[in-house]
Amino acid sequence: MRKAKRLRELFGGSRIIRVAGAHNGLTAKLVEQAGFDGVWASGLEISCSYLVPDAGILTMKEFLEAAIVMNEAVSIPVIADCDTGFGNSNNVIYMVKKYESAGIAGVVIEDKVFPKQNSLLSGGRQELASIGEFVGKIMAAKNAQQTGDFMVIARIEALIAGWGIKEALKRADAYVKAGADAILIHSKSNSPQEIINFLELWEKKAPIVVVPTTYYEITIQELKRLGVDVVIYANHGIRAAVKAIRETFRKILKDGTTKYVEKRIAPLSEIFELQGMPQLKENERKFVKTDTSDIVALIPAAGSHKEAKSMEEILGDRPLAMIDINGKPLLKWNIDTIKRCGINDIVVVGGYKADKIPSDELGIRLIVNEQYEDTYILESIMKGLGEIENGKDILLVYSDIYFDSDVITKMIQKKSDFVIAVGPIRREKSGYKSLDLVSTEKEPIKSDRFLSTDRKNHVRKIGTKLPLKDAFYEFIGIAYLNSGIVKIFKEIYEDCKNKYTGKPFHESYTFEKASLTDFLQELVDRGIKIDTLEEKTGWMEIYSFEDYKLICSLVK
Ligand code: SPV
Ligand code: MG
Repeated sequence: MRKAKRLRELFGGSRIIRVAGAHNGLTAKLVEQAGFDGVWASGLEISCSYLVPDAGILTMKEFLEAAIVMNEAVSIPVIADCDTGFGNSNNVIYMVKKYESAGIAGVVIEDKVFPKQNSLLSGGRQELASIGEFVGKIMAAKNAQQTGDFMVIARIEALIAGWGIKEALKRADAYVKAGADAILIHSKSNSPQEIINFLELWEKKAPIVVVPTTYYEITIQELKRLGVDVVIYANHGIRAAVKAIRETFRKILKDGTTKYVEKRIAPLSEIFELQGMPQLKENERKFVKTDTSDIVALIPAAGSHKEAKSMEEILGDRPLAMIDINGKPLLKWNIDTIKRCGINDIVVVGGYKADKIPSDELGIRLIVNEQYEDTYILESIMKGLGEIENGKDILLVYSDIYFDSDVITKMIQKKSDFVIAVGPIRREKSGYKSLDLVSTEKEPIKSDRFLSTDRKNHVRKIGTKLPLKDAFYEFIGIAYLNSGIVKIFKEIYEDCKNKYTGKPFHESYTFEKASLTDFLQELVDRGIKIDTLEEKTGWMEIYSFEDYKLICSLVK
């Protein structure tokens, strides 16, 4: 009953409480976002949203359901318009039970007879219930509520029905005596005078609520001066919406295009935001676990890394993937990470000193690229792919990097058909390795701090020879290809093999010696979209002794 307590606190404060009418989750949210203190679950608006008159046509079920949706959409209290209480005192008892347990902060019941008609309707039938009957309803409501905070507000329709101020005052006294927490005094006059008269004569024996729809010139300061506690702007949202929607529709038909309305209406991004799409995305990242049973990790680890001179001594006669990091080979660290992400089928392509890779111990499939000296990474990848069943998605990971599971998880959850992980360019080139530079359609986000983004940003150019000024990122050696892309990947490889064997291929002197980046550029040139995952942290390359020392100090 947190919100009922909040409403009580507002009533107890010195500030005038401002409440606006709504009829569903969206309009309630707009009330809250605008800065109002509470939502009025308006009978008029809810009826209008069903396109039926505000005349007791809908039942409590529809009104309650709408109030619940509104209440769940906002963190401010909802005050529900409960018309005449949906019947006699027994109906009121049931009503209070339902509204209170649904978390509605307070209800307003009015002293008319069922079926009531809207108070502002010109020529409306406004029949008042007897004071005795309505006092019974208030007592029933107060007796039915389970918590002290829930508010029952009695609405006086004597001025609406033309019974005059004396009758209104008599009723106000009787309702307060019966236990009403506040009095809503309603008027359909164009002038606030009858409300002013009422307030002066009544001497405020309980908090006062007003609905200045017809005497709309009155200001919040004037109402405050008169001693009003709560003002309800009951129907301005729906009236604004009807006018704006009508005008937009009219304009679309008249212009024969939406071009001229586009800038006058809310952008779709605002709609997504209102619906809570950002939160959904965040939850998806945290909790929607992707089925990883169809993913195979492929690690090309055939190269001799002869160039890695500074690590020669530590390496001895092992391939770089087997370099020891605090008592565990790099490859084992990475395999453990991949398995933690739910990927258990791991194919490693060895070459140089492949016999030093203990496949059984590591729980992997080891494939050997016997031609490792005459070929390069692309060929090792193709050897690996050749061993993997069709229909599998591939997580491709270089063997000379270290990474955390976050990078892998994000790759998988990005749900792009084809994505490569990229990071900021390491400007001070270290070790032997030339940088795999990447240029993309969009520029990097220019901030040191940014949230993981879902934006698509496709590769334009990739290779070691890109002018540094054109490069935005460095490829970090992790890629994800869904099974459809793997199929295309293999087909284009065969086509290139026929065309380019023995010939230059992008940055490589021959196709046989091609790197993955050469082939990726070929794919881009052929119109294949390669998305990028921008990752500033969570991974590092191990190209030099400096890198090696750093990684040993970081992982335990
Ligand atoms: C409503 O908004 O449904 C109200 C206020 O009860 S009024 O329309 O003025 O009757
Ligand atoms: Mg109403």
